[in-house]
Amino acid sequence: MKMDLAIEVENLVKIYGKGGSGIKALDGISMKIPKASTYGLFGPNGSGKTTLISILVGLILPTSGNAKVLGFDVVKESVEIRRRVGLLPEGFGFYDHMTALENLVFLATLDKIPSDQRKKRALETLEMVGLKDRANDKVSTFSRGMRQRLGIAQALLKDPELLIFDEPTVGIDPEGAAEFRNLVKSMNKEGKTILMSTHLLYEVGMVCTHAAVIRGGKLLVQGSVEELYQSVREAKGYRYELRVKSGIDMLLQEIRSISDVIEIKQNENHVTVLSRREIWGELLPLVSKPQFKDAVESLKPIEPSWDEIYRFYQEGG
Ligand SMILES: Nc1ncnc2c1ncn2[C@@H]1O[C@H](COP(=O)(O)OP(=O)(O)OP(=O)(O)O)[C@@H](O)[C@H]1O
Ligand SMILES: [Mg+2]
Repeated sequence: MKMDLAIEVENLVKIYGKGGSGIKALDGISMKIPKASTYGLFGPNGSGKTTLISILVGLILPTSGNAKVLGFDVVKESVEIRRRVGLLPEGFGFYDHMTALENLVFLATLDKIPSDQRKKRALETLEMVGLKDRANDKVSTFSRGMRQRLGIAQALLKDPELLIFDEPTVGIDPEGAAEFRNLVKSMNKEGKTILMSTHLLYEVGMVCTHAAVIRGGKLLVQGSVEELYQSVREAKGYRYELRVKSGIDMLLQEIRSISDVIEIKQNENHVTVLSRREIWGELLPLVSKPQFKDAVESLKPIEPSWDEIYRFYQEGG
């Protein structure tokens, strides 16, 4: 079965500067970004995120390799790509002496939105990023986070099928970042594809369906969030958490007797169970037994954290 891809990257290399002394920002990256995914591009400072995004939208040329965005070649057909992609580049600049609304209406013109719809659409996107009440204020009076929100608004103007955000939540307060993640989730539900870079690991887990981890211009891992979780689970074990009341010695004894349980830790009324395999199908009936069910308040699997996933792949998987 061929996956329907929004973006396909093949062995992309980018060397800045001339000759052999240049900086290798991308060192042979290949990626497949499925349509209708929210794809997190995670990597530390200098790992090549902005370089990759800039190549995808035709702002810079690759040194070698190929990439296609919505079926268009990033070198030969970048005009077609920019027409279809909503982009939040790193450090987007606005006209400071113009209002937020005026900036967006101007950008809507460049996006070729019909003149009778520009203002309406600009106001809609301002509302989506929580800036509607500042629509008529000059951008020079905006805080850094408000500028970033305005940058997100301009990416949404043409209601594109593919959105590419370079570190969208940088400078935005926690509440605004949560609103942004909700916005991304609702756009993803509408079937849009979202590619967003971030250096915040937890953000990947909160909003993305897929992710790639890059470091030093190299891809460490990519896949669906479930696939990434699964490979860490297989290597490091499956974890479950029980919240319990007193009198659970018998229960712990029974859990210990499940084959492949490696470790049981109790910290007051928290019990964590580590197992070499998936044992949900055995734990659940056990805690539901009449003699235990009053002692157990909850049982849930614990997913690997994004820190663990990152460390796991940084150490070579
Ligand atoms: N215009 C440029 N000229 C020379 N080197 C560059 C240029 N832009 C980026 N680089 C180098 O390429 C590498 C990747 O940079 P890039 O900006 O793509 O990283 P990033 O992952 O976006 O980092 P950040 O999280 O800081 O935004 C870095 O070593 C950087 O110094
Ligand atoms: Mg960057």
